[in-house]
Amino acid sequence: MDFKQRGKFAWLSHLMYSIKHRGLASTCSMGLKEWQKERELGIKTFGAHAPAELSIEADSKMGGHLYQPSSSVIFERAMNALPYNFSDKVFLDIGSGKGRALILAAEAGFRKAIGIEYANELNDIAYTNIEKVKSKFPKTEFVLQEGDALQYDITEEVDVIYFFNPFDEDAVRGLMLKVKPAFERKKPIYLVYVHPVHCNVLEEVLGDPTSVVKNWKQIPDVAVFSNQAKL
Ligand SMILES: C[S@@+](CC[C@H](N)C(=O)[O-])C[C@H]1O[C@@H](n2cnc3c(N)ncnc32)[C@H](O)[C@@H]1O
Repeated sequence: MDFKQRGKFAWLSHLMYSIKHRGLASTCSMGLKEWQKERELGIKTFGAHAPAELSIEADSKMGGHLYQPSSSVIFERAMNALPYNFSDKVFLDIGSGKGRALILAAEAGFRKAIGIEYANELNDIAYTNIEKVKSKFPKTEFVLQEGDALQYDITEEVDVIYFFNPFDEDAVRGLMLKVKPAFERKKPIYLVYVHPVHCNVLEEVLGDPTSVVKNWKQIPDVAVFSNQAKL
Protein backbone atom coordinates (compact mmCIF):
# COMPACT_ATOMS: atom_id res chain seq x y z
CA MET A 1 0.00 0.00 0.00
CA ASP A 2 1.31 3.44 -0.90
CA PHE A 3 1.04 5.46 2.31
CA LYS A 4 1.69 8.76 0.48
CA GLN A 5 -1.04 8.52 -2.14
CA ARG A 6 -3.59 11.27 -2.63
CA GLY A 7 -6.63 11.25 -0.40
CA LYS A 8 -9.20 10.97 -3.21
CA PHE A 9 -8.58 7.27 -3.77
CA ALA A 10 -6.85 6.53 -0.50
CA TRP A 11 -10.00 5.42 1.30
CA LEU A 12 -10.64 2.82 -1.42
CA SER A 13 -7.12 1.53 -1.30
CA HIS A 14 -7.27 1.44 2.50
CA LEU A 15 -10.54 -0.50 2.32
CA MET A 16 -9.04 -3.06 -0.09
CA TYR A 17 -5.97 -3.37 2.11
CA SER A 18 -8.11 -3.99 5.18
CA ILE A 19 -10.26 -6.59 3.40
CA LYS A 20 -7.13 -8.37 2.18
CA HIS A 21 -5.48 -8.41 5.60
CA ARG A 22 -8.49 -8.75 7.92
CA GLY A 23 -11.21 -10.25 5.78
CA LEU A 24 -14.56 -8.71 4.75
CA ALA A 25 -16.53 -9.55 7.92
CA SER A 26 -13.89 -8.15 10.24
CA THR A 27 -13.43 -5.00 8.08
CA CYS A 28 -17.21 -4.34 8.12
CA SER A 29 -17.49 -4.95 11.85
CA MET A 30 -14.54 -2.63 12.59
CA GLY A 31 -15.92 0.05 10.26
CA LEU A 32 -19.26 -0.05 12.06
CA LYS A 33 -17.58 0.21 15.48
CA GLU A 34 -15.51 3.21 14.34
CA TRP A 35 -18.58 4.95 12.99
CA GLN A 36 -20.41 4.29 16.29
CA LYS A 37 -17.41 5.69 18.19
CA GLU A 38 -17.49 8.91 16.14
CA ARG A 39 -21.20 9.32 16.90
CA GLU A 40 -20.85 8.44 20.58
CA LEU A 41 -18.06 11.01 21.08
CA GLY A 42 -19.46 13.56 18.63
CA ILE A 43 -16.13 13.91 16.83
CA LYS A 44 -15.11 14.03 13.16
CA THR A 45 -11.84 12.25 12.53
CA PHE A 46 -12.61 10.19 9.42
CA GLY A 47 -10.90 10.86 6.10
CA ALA A 48 -7.62 10.27 4.36
CA HIS A 49 -5.28 13.15 3.51
CA ALA A 50 -1.96 12.90 1.72
CA PRO A 51 0.89 15.23 2.79
CA ALA A 52 0.77 16.91 -0.65
CA GLU A 53 -2.78 18.17 0.11
CA LEU A 54 -1.84 19.73 3.45
CA SER A 55 0.01 22.89 4.55
CA ILE A 56 3.19 21.45 5.99
CA GLU A 57 6.38 23.45 6.29
CA ALA A 58 8.66 20.80 7.80
CA ASP A 59 11.34 19.22 5.57
CA SER A 60 10.21 15.84 6.85
CA LYS A 61 7.01 16.25 4.77
CA MET A 62 8.85 14.18 2.12
CA GLY A 63 8.75 11.13 4.37
CA GLY A 64 5.24 11.68 5.74
CA HIS A 65 2.47 9.15 5.25
CA LEU A 66 -1.19 9.65 4.64
CA TYR A 67 -3.44 10.88 7.46
CA GLN A 68 -5.85 8.17 8.64
CA PRO A 69 -7.48 7.93 12.07
CA SER A 70 -6.58 5.24 14.58
CA SER A 71 -9.03 2.39 14.96
CA SER A 72 -10.57 2.30 18.43
CA VAL A 73 -10.60 -1.51 18.23
CA ILE A 74 -6.85 -1.73 17.59
CA PHE A 75 -6.16 1.07 20.08
CA GLU A 76 -7.92 -0.87 22.82
CA ARG A 77 -6.01 -4.05 22.00
CA ALA A 78 -2.75 -2.08 22.04
CA MET A 79 -3.48 -0.52 25.44
CA ASN A 80 -4.40 -3.94 26.84
CA ALA A 81 -0.82 -4.99 26.07
CA LEU A 82 0.48 -2.39 28.57
CA PRO A 83 0.79 -3.49 32.17
CA TYR A 84 -0.76 -0.59 34.01
CA ASN A 85 -3.62 1.61 34.93
CA PHE A 86 -3.26 4.93 33.07
CA SER A 87 -4.69 7.36 35.61
CA ASP A 88 -1.28 8.86 36.47
CA LYS A 89 0.29 8.33 33.04
CA VAL A 90 1.15 10.64 30.15
CA PHE A 91 0.47 9.68 26.52
CA LEU A 92 2.32 11.18 23.55
CA ASP A 93 0.98 10.74 20.01
CA ILE A 94 3.61 11.26 17.30
CA GLY A 95 1.64 12.67 14.35
CA SER A 96 -1.63 13.31 16.15
CA GLY A 97 -3.74 14.17 13.08
CA LYS A 98 -7.35 15.02 13.94
CA GLY A 99 -6.86 13.94 17.56
CA ARG A 100 -8.51 10.53 17.52
CA ALA A 101 -5.76 8.66 19.40
CA LEU A 102 -5.55 11.50 21.97
CA ILE A 103 -9.29 11.21 22.60
CA LEU A 104 -9.06 7.42 22.84
CA ALA A 105 -6.20 7.89 25.33
CA ALA A 106 -8.45 10.14 27.43
CA GLU A 107 -11.15 7.49 27.26
CA ALA A 108 -8.57 4.92 28.44
CA GLY A 109 -7.94 7.15 31.46
CA PHE A 110 -4.56 8.86 30.78
CA ARG A 111 -4.04 11.95 32.92
CA LYS A 112 -2.43 13.86 30.05
CA ALA A 113 -2.57 13.39 26.27
CA ILE A 114 -0.01 15.29 24.18
CA GLY A 115 -0.13 15.43 20.39
CA ILE A 116 2.49 16.67 17.96
CA GLU A 117 1.29 17.19 14.38
CA TYR A 118 2.91 19.10 11.51
CA ALA A 119 -0.19 19.72 9.34
CA ASN A 120 -1.92 22.93 10.34
CA GLU A 121 -5.35 21.88 8.97
CA LEU A 122 -5.34 18.59 10.88
CA ASN A 123 -4.26 20.29 14.09
CA ASP A 124 -7.15 22.77 13.77
CA ILE A 125 -9.61 19.89 13.40
CA ALA A 126 -8.03 18.19 16.42
CA TYR A 127 -8.68 21.37 18.49
CA THR A 128 -12.33 21.31 17.47
CA ASN A 129 -12.68 17.61 18.28
CA ILE A 130 -11.02 18.03 21.65
CA GLU A 131 -13.22 21.02 22.52
CA LYS A 132 -16.22 18.73 21.90
CA VAL A 133 -15.05 15.96 24.26
CA LYS A 134 -13.15 17.91 26.94
CA SER A 135 -16.06 17.94 29.36
CA LYS A 136 -16.47 14.15 29.03
CA PHE A 137 -12.88 13.61 30.18
CA PRO A 138 -12.27 16.18 32.93
CA LYS A 139 -9.36 14.20 34.38
CA THR A 140 -7.33 14.39 31.16
CA GLU A 141 -5.27 17.42 30.20
CA PHE A 142 -4.96 17.75 26.42
CA VAL A 143 -1.94 19.43 24.83
CA LEU A 144 -1.73 19.96 21.07
CA GLN A 145 1.49 21.11 19.53
CA GLU A 146 2.02 22.02 15.90
CA GLY A 147 5.42 21.09 14.50
CA ASP A 148 7.73 18.41 13.24
CA ALA A 149 7.75 15.30 15.42
CA LEU A 150 11.35 14.64 14.39
CA GLN A 151 12.38 17.85 16.18
CA TYR A 152 10.25 17.21 19.26
CA ASP A 153 12.08 16.47 22.50
CA ILE A 154 10.34 13.74 24.46
CA THR A 155 9.97 15.09 27.97
CA GLU A 156 10.58 13.11 31.17
CA GLU A 157 6.86 13.06 31.99
CA VAL A 158 5.98 10.86 28.98
CA ASP A 159 5.09 7.24 29.85
CA VAL A 160 3.68 5.99 26.54
CA ILE A 161 4.83 7.04 23.08
CA TYR A 162 2.27 6.12 20.44
CA PHE A 163 2.58 6.21 16.72
CA PHE A 164 0.32 4.95 14.00
CA ASN A 165 2.49 4.56 10.93
CA PRO A 166 3.14 8.30 10.49
CA PHE A 167 6.16 8.17 8.19
CA ASP A 168 8.69 6.25 6.12
CA GLU A 169 11.76 4.35 7.23
CA ASP A 170 14.19 7.31 7.10
CA ALA A 171 11.88 9.40 9.27
CA VAL A 172 11.45 6.50 11.70
CA ARG A 173 15.25 6.40 11.95
CA GLY A 174 15.22 10.16 12.63
CA LEU A 175 12.61 9.73 15.34
CA MET A 176 14.75 7.09 17.03
CA LEU A 177 17.29 9.85 17.82
CA LYS A 178 14.61 11.29 20.13
CA VAL A 179 13.26 7.97 21.40
CA LYS A 180 16.60 6.37 22.33
CA PRO A 181 17.48 8.90 25.09
CA ALA A 182 13.96 8.51 26.53
CA PHE A 183 14.49 4.72 26.64
CA GLU A 184 17.83 5.17 28.44
CA ARG A 185 16.11 6.81 31.41
CA LYS A 186 15.40 4.81 34.56
CA LYS A 187 11.69 5.58 34.41
CA PRO A 188 9.63 2.89 32.63
CA ILE A 189 8.57 3.96 29.16
CA TYR A 190 6.59 2.14 26.46
CA LEU A 191 6.42 2.71 22.75
CA VAL A 192 3.31 1.50 20.94
CA TYR A 193 3.77 1.22 17.17
CA VAL A 194 0.51 0.60 15.32
CA HIS A 195 0.72 -0.90 11.83
CA PRO A 196 4.43 -1.50 12.40
CA VAL A 197 5.74 -1.55 8.83
CA HIS A 198 9.23 -0.34 9.83
CA CYS A 199 9.52 -2.43 12.96
CA ASN A 200 13.03 -3.53 11.90
CA VAL A 201 14.31 0.01 12.60
CA LEU A 202 12.91 -0.02 16.13
CA GLU A 203 14.35 -3.49 16.75
CA GLU A 204 17.81 -2.27 15.69
CA VAL A 205 17.67 0.58 18.20
CA LEU A 206 15.43 -0.68 21.03
CA GLY A 207 15.80 -4.47 20.81
CA ASP A 208 12.98 -6.97 20.43
CA PRO A 209 9.41 -5.84 21.08
CA THR A 210 8.05 -6.84 24.48
CA SER A 211 4.81 -7.88 22.84
CA VAL A 212 3.24 -8.04 19.41
CA VAL A 213 -0.52 -7.94 18.88
CA LYS A 214 -1.49 -9.86 15.74
CA ASN A 215 -4.75 -10.01 13.84
CA TRP A 216 -6.51 -13.31 13.10
CA LYS A 217 -4.39 -13.69 9.96
CA GLN A 218 -1.30 -13.52 12.19
CA ILE A 219 -0.28 -10.14 10.72
CA PRO A 220 1.12 -7.76 13.38
CA ASP A 221 -1.28 -4.90 14.12
CA VAL A 222 0.80 -3.47 16.97
CA ALA A 223 4.35 -3.83 18.31
CA VAL A 224 5.08 -2.70 21.87
CA PHE A 225 8.61 -1.78 22.98
CA SER A 226 9.74 -1.02 26.50
CA ASN A 227 12.86 -0.19 28.48
CA GLN A 228 11.63 -2.71 31.07
CA ALA A 229 12.00 -6.50 31.12
CA LYS A 230 9.59 -8.49 28.93
CA LEU A 231 5.92 -7.90 29.73
C1 LIG B 1 -1.70 7.67 10.11
S1 LIG B 1 -1.97 9.29 10.73
C2 LIG B 1 -2.34 8.97 12.44
C3 LIG B 1 -3.12 10.08 13.10
C4 LIG B 1 -3.36 9.93 14.60
N1 LIG B 1 -2.14 9.61 15.31
C5 LIG B 1 -4.36 8.85 14.90
O1 LIG B 1 -3.90 7.79 15.32
O2 LIG B 1 -5.56 9.04 14.69
C6 LIG B 1 -0.27 9.90 10.80
C7 LIG B 1 -0.18 11.37 11.12
O3 LIG B 1 1.20 11.73 11.28
C8 LIG B 1 1.39 13.04 10.78
N2 LIG B 1 2.83 13.20 10.53
C9 LIG B 1 3.59 12.54 9.63
N3 LIG B 1 4.88 12.93 9.72
C10 LIG B 1 4.94 13.86 10.72
C11 LIG B 1 6.00 14.61 11.29
N4 LIG B 1 7.26 14.52 10.86
N5 LIG B 1 5.71 15.47 12.30
C12 LIG B 1 4.43 15.59 12.76
N6 LIG B 1 3.39 14.92 12.24
C13 LIG B 1 3.64 14.04 11.23
C14 LIG B 1 0.48 13.07 9.55
O4 LIG B 1 0.17 14.39 9.14
C15 LIG B 1 -0.73 12.30 10.06
O5 LIG B 1 -1.64 13.17 10.67
